Amino acid sequence: MMDYIVSYNVFSNIEELGNYFANLFKDRSEELLRNKRNINIALSGGSTPKLYLSKLTGTPFLQNIDWNRIHFFWVDERMVPPTDIMSNYGSIKEFFFDKIPVPEENIHRIKGEIVPQLEVRRYGNEILNNVGKKRNNLPEFDWILLGMGNDGHTASIFQNVELKDEFQNITAVSKNPETSQTRITITEAIINNADYVTFIITGKDKVETVFEILKGDKKKYPAGRINPVNGILEFLLDKEAADMLIENEKL
Ligand code: 6PG
Repeated sequence: MMDYIVSYNVFSNIEELGNYFANLFKDRSEELLRNKRNINIALSGGSTPKLYLSKLTGTPFLQNIDWNRIHFFWVDERMVPPTDIMSNYGSIKEFFFDKIPVPEENIHRIKGEIVPQLEVRRYGNEILNNVGKKRNNLPEFDWILLGMGNDGHTASIFQNVELKDEFQNITAVSKNPETSQTRITITEAIINNADYVTFIITGKDKVETVFEILKGDKKKYPAGRINPVNGILEFLLDKEAADMLIENEKL
């Protein structure tokens, strides 16, 4: 079994990180599409994605990415209607999907307006039907884009929060322990089954947790337990989030 490869890049600011991400998206989607008809990418929610995904809504990326062959999924969703301000899909639709020529049928949102115990199965089946079981008898996403909370959660996998109504180790119902908000998430097993897993983390409130998951007690946080055993794990960090890491490298 191949060990997963870990790399991290530090950028002066989100502008520089976003530009790097846009070019990486173009190059990586081109590379992946050489060997397959379609590729499957899972997006995160929260406030960071708009900072980097929006870079893809301009020239030359609108024209030089084969959007028809890219399918988008989510790593998690808050169980609210898509029009709710808390909706991961709703917020990304406005600044991203409404501005790129991706076919509607390529957007596989988690339906926050459905009863969670039903939606966890429906979305799990949507992943099975579109991503298929390609490795370890589990769906294998081509690329999963993750954020991380300052508590070290990723997707909606929170420390000491039990996942419920798990569907075939693909999806589950979770809860934000701070707000008690119900969520649906893909599982750690699905994330670890992907070809590429990229954490994109910014801001000084994440600096300690970033250091811990890269150099410290990795297993202390859900984000530190992500290890795509057959793939590539990479971190795109702004300088604020990487400060302790940089200091440590100087020692
Ligand atoms: C969510 C996300 C979550 C997010 C982190 C970081 O639904 O909230 O999927 O896992 O990636 O909480 O959020 P920020 O990007 O807002 O810091």
